[in-house]
Amino acid sequence: MGSFSVFDSLIATIIFLNLFQTVFAQGNKYATDDLLSIGKPGSRDWLAATQKASAFVAQLNLTEKASLVTGASLIGACVGNIAPIERLGFPGLCISDGPTAVNRFDLVSVFPSGMTASSSWDRDLMYQRGLLLGAEFKAKGTHVGLGPVAGPLGRHPLGGRNWEGFSSDPYLTGIAMKSTIHGMQDAGVQSCSKHFIGNEQETQRSNTVNPDGTIIEAISSNIDDRTLHELYLWPFADAVKAGTSSVMCSYNRVNETYSCENSELLTGLLKSELGFEGYVMSDYFATHSGVKSINAGLDMNMPGSLDLSDIETGKSYFGGNVTQAVTNGSVSMERLDDMVRRIMTPYFLLGQDKDYPTVDPSAYFVLATTYGMSLPNELPARDVRGNHSAFIRTLGAAGIVLLKNINSTLPLKAPMNIGVFGNDAPDPTDGLTWPDSETRTGFEFGTLDVGGGSGSGRHTTLVSPLEAIKARAMLSGARVQYLTSNEIIAANDLTSIYPSPDVCLVFLKTFSQEGYDRLSFEADWNSTLVVNNIAASCPNTVVITHSAGVNTMPWATNPNVTAILAGHYPGEESGNSIADILWGDINPSGRLPYTIPADEADYDIPVVDLTAVTDPNAWQSNFTEGLMIDYRHFDTQNITPLYEFGYGLSYTTFHLSSSLEITHHSSSNNPLPFPDPSCPIAPGGNTDLFTTILSASITVSNTGGMAGATVVQIYVSLPQNSTPPGTPVKVLRGFEKVMLQPREARDVIFELTRRDLSFWDVKEQKWRIPGGNIGISVGFSSRDLKQEKEIKLL
Ligand SMILES: *[C@@H]1O[C@H](CO)[C@@H](O)[C@H](O)[C@H]1NC(C)=O
Ligand SMILES: *[C@@H]1O[C@H](CO)[C@@H](O)[C@H](O)[C@H]1NC(C)=O
Ligand SMILES: *[C@@H]1O[C@H](CO)[C@@H](O)[C@H](O)[C@H]1NC(C)=O
Ligand SMILES: *[C@@H]1O[C@H](CO)[C@@H](O)[C@H](O)[C@H]1NC(C)=O
Ligand SMILES: *[C@@H]1O[C@H](CO)[C@@H](O)[C@H](O)[C@H]1NC(C)=O
Ligand SMILES: *[C@@H]1O[C@H](CO)[C@@H](O)[C@H](O)[C@H]1NC(C)=O
Ligand SMILES: *[C@@H]1O[C@H](CO)[C@@H](O)[C@H](O)[C@H]1NC(C)=O
Ligand SMILES: *[C@@H]1O[C@H](CO)[C@@H](O)[C@H](O)[C@H]1NC(C)=O
Ligand SMILES: *[C@@H]1O[C@H](CO)[C@@H](O)[C@H](O)[C@H]1NC(C)=O
Repeated sequence: MGSFSVFDSLIATIIFLNLFQTVFAQGNKYATDDLLSIGKPGSRDWLAATQKASAFVAQLNLTEKASLVTGASLIGACVGNIAPIERLGFPGLCISDGPTAVNRFDLVSVFPSGMTASSSWDRDLMYQRGLLLGAEFKAKGTHVGLGPVAGPLGRHPLGGRNWEGFSSDPYLTGIAMKSTIHGMQDAGVQSCSKHFIGNEQETQRSNTVNPDGTIIEAISSNIDDRTLHELYLWPFADAVKAGTSSVMCSYNRVNETYSCENSELLTGLLKSELGFEGYVMSDYFATHSGVKSINAGLDMNMPGSLDLSDIETGKSYFGGNVTQAVTNGSVSMERLDDMVRRIMTPYFLLGQDKDYPTVDPSAYFVLATTYGMSLPNELPARDVRGNHSAFIRTLGAAGIVLLKNINSTLPLKAPMNIGVFGNDAPDPTDGLTWPDSETRTGFEFGTLDVGGGSGSGRHTTLVSPLEAIKARAMLSGARVQYLTSNEIIAANDLTSIYPSPDVCLVFLKTFSQEGYDRLSFEADWNSTLVVNNIAASCPNTVVITHSAGVNTMPWATNPNVTAILAGHYPGEESGNSIADILWGDINPSGRLPYTIPADEADYDIPVVDLTAVTDPNAWQSNFTEGLMIDYRHFDTQNITPLYEFGYGLSYTTFHLSSSLEITHHSSSNNPLPFPDPSCPIAPGGNTDLFTTILSASITVSNTGGMAGATVVQIYVSLPQNSTPPGTPVKVLRGFEKVMLQPREARDVIFELTRRDLSFWDVKEQKWRIPGGNIGISVGFSSRDLKQEKEIKLL
């Protein structure tokens, strides 16, 4: 299945009072976002678009309807294509990967990855990222951008696609989904929220065929109802509420039924409980049936053909089979009309029927790379990058997390002799497009700014750390010595370095790509030996990681390692982003969106990996840990992490006032949300779930000497004795990034909704606020909680 991996895929009001400002989180920010974003589901725009879509459907004959729900690989140059209907002036749809760049097109920007965006904990930057990425999709003539990613959520720290998504915390991922979707769709491009659902491992994500012809089915994620609601479905609810145009069903099975033909998931949860009004698109070759999938809720089959080998024949579970199924009555005409209406509504909503750019000629690169077709001689691509590199540099820096900084190592104090080490520091030697790699460590020499697979991007420019550091050094006449062969450093041959640098910057990388899960917690290429050998002779060693996510850092407590920065995948301005932080032009403000363990054994949910399987149903993954992933697991087991979820340092210091004030709004006397008709289902679910139940306010101040931003976080602890077993110690339910000048203070107000204070009651099939005392704590990380209070709502 390796060949498949090329597919797929606030502060509303800031009251300025000079030194004293108020920052409203959550509730009011929603209001701002809703104003910013066009065509909110349920709005008048959405209704008008649905009417236009209905009128369009009324003009179609059966063949045309079948064509609109079936990908047609050879009709267009995009990774997914819906054929035009010329007599109605419909140009068809172009659908493109991915969440980080307009993948496989030329002259596009490579943005910071999803996990880098979530490490910024900055809603505005997340929105901007979606907006600029969306602008590039549109300028390339792509109607649908395949992203953002809420699945994998990150159950497995070594999950191969975690970097494409945001965080193993559903609340943080939900905010990132919403902000990205609003950005993309404000730019006029359809978002496709993926992968729905339980796509937590890449290993056996799709079915395979044994040499004897036996079909071995894909991994089955067996997830209980409460876990599904409180973890994996949560960010998809936010995506639906934000108005995502489409949702992509995933490769894997859930409870032994393929996601794309799972009616519990598609019709039960997504379309009924969450009120999703857009369309469900299959992941590429994730459709395994026609009538069954359609009646389960699948609206669009991509890329259309049965298999990679059927691209030319056009054989499909949909297509001609849809026509036949409607004719013989196994699919109703109403259902087919519903599918087409769902597909056409976002097209009209976003104004894609008017003056939409044509598909950029460089899309033929897809045909060449995916289907092995010969490349046209000339690819006169349109350059759609604009000035996006300035933003990419900013977000790249905002996503860097300062984990350690002793002896005031950073920011650098004008060193005159700088050492740069490690194979992640220089320009790549293997070209600027990351090839799919079965080695799982990618290419040896060159900086890593984005992962591989469908979520990657084609670089036009890439600034390496070594290049950016040399440019800085030139300004002060400093000397830069470098050694970028990990093999030489691992062999401890440092003879070329003389005299000893004032500071040694060691760059490590951890590759990851679609289709494969990572094999190691440590960074690649002998990283531990590399750090230890440098640190042995350099008492001022700074380690910078460019990584797909969770790493162990066996060298973190080495006293000669004076600073550590987790840089994630920062995108094409990588070197400039890290230089801005090292030299202190930008004060680091990133926070970990996951937990870094002291020991890899502290994470105990391995990827299922079987060998020589003959039982077609052998691949099973029981999510028996329930809600206990990432920090929930560390909290419940009382394990001390190396660096906890939500953690990150700054070059300045912050203080939280002792006056945590909680206001309980009157609307919360009912443990269950009001049902229809007063609070109907709207996109996102029962509308009462989003009623504000309480507000919490606290004052944060900058007590250091440098301007900087911090992230104030609020956690909710539901009582163990009035909730079912398996309730986490605490869960994130709000955060706010606050920029403060030295000695400046601001009030931060969090507004918590009914959903924020509830658990999923499986018997009642509703969110329920428990009786008893609910703990509310506010602090700077999941383990640095400064103020705690208890409140009884019922
Ligand atoms: C449907 O319309 C198309 C033109 O878009 C035409 O070629 C086709 O014959 C029509 N099919 C039927 C069944 O009327
Ligand atoms: C999967 O099975 C579990 C255990 O029976 C059940 O709680 C859950 O609701 C099922 N989910 C779906 C989507 O079928
Ligand atoms: C209909 O689907 C079957 C597989 O179920 C496939 O073999 C056949 O070729 C399809 N027909 C068309 C017209 O695509
Ligand atoms: C109707 O057509 C579909 C698609 O070809 C086929 O899968 C199904 O078996 C047919 N049903 C009947 C009752 O003929
Ligand atoms: C990029 O250009 C746009 C308009 O073309 C402008 O509004 C924006 O401020 C510029 N951004 C940066 C970071 O220079
Ligand atoms: C760093 O500080 C520690 C104690 O704070 C000290 O023992 C050590 O020598 C310092 N290292 C350097 C390189 O200054
Ligand atoms: C790690 O270092 C050892 C010893 O120098 C070397 O043999 C090995 O090839 C290195 N491995 C990698 C992945 O670089
Ligand atoms: C730290 O650096 C000093 C000075 O170079 C060296 O003597 C010592 O062994 C180093 N310690 C470690 C743990 O590498
Ligand atoms: C998963 O759960 C099922 C049902 O409880 C059980 O039969 C099966 O053995 C479990 N599989 C694994 C690999 O634990």
